[in-house]
Amino acid sequence: MKMASFKEIISTLPKRKGWKDSNNDLFLYQGFWCSSFFIEGVMSAQQNFQSQPSDIVICTAPKTGTTWLKSLTFAIVTRTTFDDSTSPLLTNLSHDCVPFLEVDLAQSFTNRDPKNPLLATHIPYSSLPKSIIDSSCKIVYICRNPKDAFVSLYHFIARRLVFKDMKPLALEEAFELYCQGVSSYGPYWDHVLGFWKASLDRPDKILFLKYEEMMEDTVVYVKKLADFIGYPFSSEEIKKGLVEKIVSMCSFENLSNLEVNKSGKHRERTLGVIENKIYFRKGKVGDWENYLTPEMAARLDSITLQKLNGSGLTL
Ligand code: A3P
Repeated sequence: MKMASFKEIISTLPKRKGWKDSNNDLFLYQGFWCSSFFIEGVMSAQQNFQSQPSDIVICTAPKTGTTWLKSLTFAIVTRTTFDDSTSPLLTNLSHDCVPFLEVDLAQSFTNRDPKNPLLATHIPYSSLPKSIIDSSCKIVYICRNPKDAFVSLYHFIARRLVFKDMKPLALEEAFELYCQGVSSYGPYWDHVLGFWKASLDRPDKILFLKYEEMMEDTVVYVKKLADFIGYPFSSEEIKKGLVEKIVSMCSFENLSNLEVNKSGKHRERTLGVIENKIYFRKGKVGDWENYLTPEMAARLDSITLQKLNGSGLTL
């Protein structure tokens, strides 16, 4: 199907105002909310993307640790070619090292570096291209506490808009929409639950990670991640401290202080310019306390409890 027909389908979808003050409708496609630009990419991926068994697909909802997980997996996979003084991660934003399926690859799904098995997407599990579900490729998912995910998303949008001379909604209005599930690739809880349930059914295919747990003991999770994606660390590498080197190269402190991530720009051709620095805000667990009232926090907690009830997952 051509992009024009995608546009026709999108024009028939349920629509809500998004988080910006203009030009920002979100459409409900297959149960999740997204802007038309992203839905076109998702439709195209669903129709045309052919996954390879060697692929490693990094799946996330926005603002839950994508930049970090991309850096870690890229560093793991390329560690025999580069070290912590030559890695492309030192001169490129990790989003420029790992292609974004429904954006970077949407025009040409075969236009991939054959040496790089990594790709990333925000598509919910039930809407992933069939070949990703059916092939033996691996999926790695990271989620985050919804209060921090909301605060992070709000700031990301606000910081992008300042650059474009536009305004975001007030935090309270955006919060209301978030609670109703109206956020990019939301409802957030449905996104997380889709991958959580799939990871229980298919533990060899999907590794389910939590931002907070990874922050607590990154070394343990980096080893787990490397084992899962088929790039385990040898005992020799472990003895040499390679895991710790990767963890420290990919830490918030290190990446956010690199020149490329302080002054570089990303995606000038597709989504419009994004300053690399907006992918690095605080990188902390619990920063929501500085932005949400106790009532707002209690409301999000109660939605989370209700949505995750009986799933065995806590966030
Ligand atoms: P905050 O806004 O809470 O600081 P995503 O990468 O999915 O867009 O998520 C962005 C969040 O991850 C931001 O959270 C950002 O600061 C944080 N982040 C970026 N790089 C990180 C890193 N190397 N380690 C930990 N957190 C990181």
